[in-house]
Amino acid sequence: MSEHESKSAVDASRTSYGDEGFSRYLRRAFLASRGFDDVDLDRPVVGIAVTTSDYNTCHRDMPALLQAVRRGVLEAGGLPMEFPTLSLGEILTSPTTMLFRNLMAMDTEEMIRALPMDAAVLLGGCDKTVPAQLMAAASSDKPVLLEVVGPMMTGSWRGERLGACTDCRRLWGNHRGGELDTAEITEARGELVTTAGTCAVMGTASTMACLTETLGMMLPGGATPGASTGARLRHGVATGRHAVELARAGTPKPREILTRAAFENAIKVLAALGGSTNALVHLTAVARRAGVGLALGDFDTIGAKVPLLVDCKPSGANYMEDFHRAGGLPMLLKELEPLLDTSTTGVTGTPLAELIADVRPHAGTRPVVRTMDDPLGAPGALAVLTGSLAPSGAVIKASAASPELVRHTGPAFVVDADQDIAAILDDPDLDLTPDHVLVLRMAGPIAAGMPEAGALPIPAKLARQGVRDMVRVSDGRMSGTSYGTVVLHCDPEAAAGGPLAAVRNGDLIRLDVPARRIDLLVDEEEVARRLATFTPAPLPERGWRRLYAETVLPASEGADLSFL
Ligand code: FES
Ligand code: MG
Repeated sequence: MSEHESKSAVDASRTSYGDEGFSRYLRRAFLASRGFDDVDLDRPVVGIAVTTSDYNTCHRDMPALLQAVRRGVLEAGGLPMEFPTLSLGEILTSPTTMLFRNLMAMDTEEMIRALPMDAAVLLGGCDKTVPAQLMAAASSDKPVLLEVVGPMMTGSWRGERLGACTDCRRLWGNHRGGELDTAEITEARGELVTTAGTCAVMGTASTMACLTETLGMMLPGGATPGASTGARLRHGVATGRHAVELARAGTPKPREILTRAAFENAIKVLAALGGSTNALVHLTAVARRAGVGLALGDFDTIGAKVPLLVDCKPSGANYMEDFHRAGGLPMLLKELEPLLDTSTTGVTGTPLAELIADVRPHAGTRPVVRTMDDPLGAPGALAVLTGSLAPSGAVIKASAASPELVRHTGPAFVVDADQDIAAILDDPDLDLTPDHVLVLRMAGPIAAGMPEAGALPIPAKLARQGVRDMVRVSDGRMSGTSYGTVVLHCDPEAAAGGPLAAVRNGDLIRLDVPARRIDLLVDEEEVARRLATFTPAPLPERGWRRLYAETVLPASEGADLSFL
């Protein structure tokens, strides 16, 4: 075959040198320096997005997973070509990874488009990486498969099983309450994050992995195998092999997979998982890119009949490795089968009904994956609220809230995200009661990129009296591993002049989760008067933060940039 007739991705994409024949020639000349000859370059090319970083401990074992995917691609007759993208490690990125999710999505989308490849495998795992990659996939015109590093294994300390990071928060709460001294909390620290992999509970990372598998953007069985297991590596090999099939066929493309029915299934799975509140923002953003209109209210109405079936922290007691041993996501899909649209097809092209046809509960399935007749919790694990404090919506993880607080009225105590919150809440003279409602504002997308600060710490004085939960309200997010009675994503945010900006200390706030309401009990005219004098903070001066603050959509619309 002459270079002009070549069907190879290496030759097919357009270049900027004017003379197309010459640019094709140049590509093969440079790739020759990499050791590739025409036999290599005429194979289907599978681009593999790699997100290894010393700053992303969750992705520590990604090099081994990458080798597994590469082997799969080679076995199937393709050419694996790895490329780096932004890597977002949740813990070490300031002020919040959420500020960079859209940047990673842009990076990934543009590289898939710019680099010669017939299909892409996107390797991710930590909280924002999978949403960013799903968003990129939804905007790209090539077949894409996602693969995650998988969850970490649990550790133990003084006979107690531990896993990041619901237990990190619980132990820290105990430390603040005076139950663990500095030496003890330091010793426990070494056992909280024991292996590579994403957080050990149903936090944002595992929630998004499960939703990716549900959507069909990952080979079946890929959400739950542990990062350190052979099962993870074998899934990586299978992913590599399958990517070559997709590269040859040129189909299915992500937008064929990401249908309304697929998103509705994902919303139901999210409810049954008691998954992360962050998933509402992420799924909305992915759907928007796929051209599927998801409204915040859809999460409540579509998820309304789905009970909590998966017993994992923070909504339950177990860890991701237990969920995996219980049968993982396919087992959950089997339990939910009567509620799902099983005609959906993902990257395999096989309808969901067929994929789960042979899944049967086994001796290890219960009680981690419960049945519809014996659920762990009632429907409504994730509730969408509206009211005078959040006219465009807010979210609460009811399954991780205190039952005695889901209907509660109390006086507000307000802090802004840019204040020294720890100093304020730890002040021994702070006169608060457990009935107070802690309000955090200026933590929305425009103000701060939506940090996970919404689960404000219980004021030290109250913590020492044994108070472990209070109603908290904010325009920020909270970690998927958090728990408590925490109302999040209040929209419009305070920085945009939302009603949150009008709240003053002592105003009464009423939360009524069963009625799906969050209200500021101050009369409308007074709120309007207060808001009339509200001046928003100046936008960041330059760079990404400027672009972000100017173009970010509200949380209820997915917090993507408006032009993406
Ligand atoms: Fe990476 Fe939790 S910090 S998944
Ligand atoms: Mg997290």
